[in-house]
Amino acid sequence: MEISGKTRVCGVIGDPIEHTLSPVMHNAAFKHLKLDFVFLAFRVKASELGDAICGMRGLGVHGLNVTMPHKDAVVEYLDEVDSTAKFLGSVNTVLNRDGRLLGFNTDGTGALKALRENGASPDGKKVLLLGAGGAAKAIAYALAKEAGELRVLNRSSEKAEELAGLLSRTFGKKVVGGALSSSAVQRSLRDSDVLVNATSVGMDPNAKQSLVSPQWLRPDLCVMDIVYSPVETELLKEAKAAGARVIGGAGMLLYQGAASFEVWTGVSAPVEVMRRALLNKLGSGATG
Ligand code: ATR
Repeated sequence: MEISGKTRVCGVIGDPIEHTLSPVMHNAAFKHLKLDFVFLAFRVKASELGDAICGMRGLGVHGLNVTMPHKDAVVEYLDEVDSTAKFLGSVNTVLNRDGRLLGFNTDGTGALKALRENGASPDGKKVLLLGAGGAAKAIAYALAKEAGELRVLNRSSEKAEELAGLLSRTFGKKVVGGALSSSAVQRSLRDSDVLVNATSVGMDPNAKQSLVSPQWLRPDLCVMDIVYSPVETELLKEAKAAGARVIGGAGMLLYQGAASFEVWTGVSAPVEVMRRALLNKLGSGATG
């Protein structure tokens, strides 16, 4: 790719950032579509977030992905955020439109798309979501619109209850929150169609851990794990062995990236090119 005076700059900000998979995914997509864009990674300390966003304006950086620990804090530096980002109080994508900085959150829609594209549509289904952290909240917001019923279980039960209350008031749907105990998972799974692990349990270096006992898994269940390192978590291995449909965390990563790409370029993301780039990199040992 030839960098010229017209090349548009996009990037990702976070701390740490060394292991990010976003540059490989977006640069492959830009190259494939012959778009005059480049994507870089910037390590930005929490204390320097304001300066970084000022720099985005000053330098005319076209788009940013925002990752840990800046997703919530970045909101106050933007001119406008969309309704999803506003509800979540969290932004993962920024577009510089003629000097106005617009914030979006594509995490939840990414997860939803990963489910749908893999034949696991949650529409009208009973969904069990494990976790109530940042990623879980974004997924819950997307799921609550589409699912028939949503149950959220979290280690700190008050976070799950608060999220469930907020979602049921917002969407007028049945959303229930509770404590993530082994018995609650077992009970809830009995009549669930879709299970999503949105906790960090099972992530390297604790890849042997899972919140779900293998004997609770069934062939008619769809199981998604947002953990992508390892690519196949213990939960997914056991779900596959039980005959369930499984969707790995790389799927959510891919589709949230594809949605960000579309925000910046206004053209359809070449999803298969991005998937290949992502899986190649994951296979080569990247972890973040
Ligand atoms: P992210 O932005 O990736 O969602 P996060 O906001 O820190 O990260 O959320 C991590 C999620 O994993 C939370 O739901 C957390 O539960 P708590 O809210 O109780 O902390 C969950 N989690 C992390 N370690 C866990 C463990 N050992 N058992 C169960 N849940 C765990």
